[in-house]
Amino acid sequence: MNQSGMARSDEGSLVPREVPGSYGLPFVSAIRDRLDFYYFQGQDKYFESRVEKYGSTVVRINVPPGPFMARDPRVVAVLDAKSFPVLFDVTKVEKKNLFTGTYMPSTSLTGGFPVCSYLDPSEPTHTKVKQLLFSLLASRKDAFIPAFRSHFSSLLATVESQLLLSGKSNFNTLNDATSFEFIGDGYFGVLPSASDLGTTGPAKAAKWLIFQLHPLVTLGLPMILEEPLLHTVHLPPFLVSGDYKALYKYFFAAATKALDTAEGLGLKRDEACHNLLFATVFNSYGGLKVLLPGILARIADSGEKFHKKLVTEIRAAVAEAGGKVTIEALEKMELTKSAVWEALRLDPAVKFQYGRAKADMNIESHDAVFAVKKGEMLFGYQPCATKDPRVFGPTAREFVGDRFVGKEGSKLLKYVYWSNGRETESPSVHNKQCPGKNLVVLVGRLLVVELFLRYDTFTAKVGLDLLGTKVEFTGVTKATSGVAD
Ligand code: HEM
Repeated sequence: MNQSGMARSDEGSLVPREVPGSYGLPFVSAIRDRLDFYYFQGQDKYFESRVEKYGSTVVRINVPPGPFMARDPRVVAVLDAKSFPVLFDVTKVEKKNLFTGTYMPSTSLTGGFPVCSYLDPSEPTHTKVKQLLFSLLASRKDAFIPAFRSHFSSLLATVESQLLLSGKSNFNTLNDATSFEFIGDGYFGVLPSASDLGTTGPAKAAKWLIFQLHPLVTLGLPMILEEPLLHTVHLPPFLVSGDYKALYKYFFAAATKALDTAEGLGLKRDEACHNLLFATVFNSYGGLKVLLPGILARIADSGEKFHKKLVTEIRAAVAEAGGKVTIEALEKMELTKSAVWEALRLDPAVKFQYGRAKADMNIESHDAVFAVKKGEMLFGYQPCATKDPRVFGPTAREFVGDRFVGKEGSKLLKYVYWSNGRETESPSVHNKQCPGKNLVVLVGRLLVVELFLRYDTFTAKVGLDLLGTKVEFTGVTKATSGVAD
């Protein structure tokens, strides 16, 4: 043993241990664990209590949904900042058909195709679709800032009128409608509301998302209803096929240019369109539904003194850019950037990651090395990794707005994992890191900028929502000085 209690071989390398933990009895224990996860303990406690019980951050556990939707709920969980990145290493883990974990929604929800998120980088279609998304995002790079500002300044105008009328304004509801419009506008230059979809897009999208994610959520209904309804069998896809067709029609018409590009890359038009729909509605819209309330909640709770610092930084950078919000101005906003990363660290919008061991291998935690066999399912609950006190110290669970500012602060960015990769690394056709990484960070910053160009400070009530955080504005103090365009 060395000082930290780790066994070493004669050559000095660490001797791999068996991964501790237990799956319990087949079937029964998986269901019992599912109930712990949803109702008796809740997500965080579910993982933390097992880490505590076995004295290890790499541990064998069951994950939901279990029977009857998942054939095998058994995983090796990696629950610290050191072991977690094994999930990013596609030389070590296979990423085929496990985007949602131990179950996979029917491909009839995606036009009969397994879409990019479910493909391993070794599959040729993965490369083509990811390349298509990179091209799309690059071709629209100048559209995002003006589209975001126009849609979200209208949202904030609505917040103000709702505050006048009733003293409160639900951000999530407004964000759902606004983010959907913003993405359609930003990606394709075609407002969904101006198409046959009218204003029904967000509701259709939400229904389709639920058909894929119901095994992983609770709606807050009594367990006796939710268990058979949401967690035992798949909801039949035909019940959402009308909504999906309406969404598809919008994409087929709005994304003509992107579909032409897709054909150039060797993709069939229909497969490309189902993929664009998925990347836009599931990955992007689903992401923004959770991300923006999450950032807003953290900023709201950070209080007036912190707001003042953001105001000073944001307005100075915008003034220096001639009153415009530009990429260069955003780059200068050290504190704003840090605050957004801190929100992404604390509340990663996608909390679960999976990967199947490609070969026998060793996984290293802070304290030990563990042997894992080929074919075993590896799983990460990201909040455990990104709130690791061994990396982020005693404030690991707190929002520290300036955590990533300066040379020392930026050294911690490699432990920010929200994009399924380190924040210091970039998505490519060869990995599974989110191709929307830069856009997501941009949009997060733009939300903060829009808020503090318009307000000196604001207050909000923060609670829990189906997939993340619920935020209700309760007051805004309009800007008193130096407001840009
Ligand atoms: C993959 C997060 C927005 C497109 C991923 C993964 C995560 C993630 C964690 C990896 C999943 C896994 O394999 O385990 C997020 C979050 C977003 C967001 C939190 C917040 C808004 C976007 C946007 C796009 C996008 C704007 C638009 C292009 C994708 C695609 C993949 C992916 C296509 C699969 C990548 C691959 O197969 O290589 N995202 N994403 N995401 N994301 Fe995002």
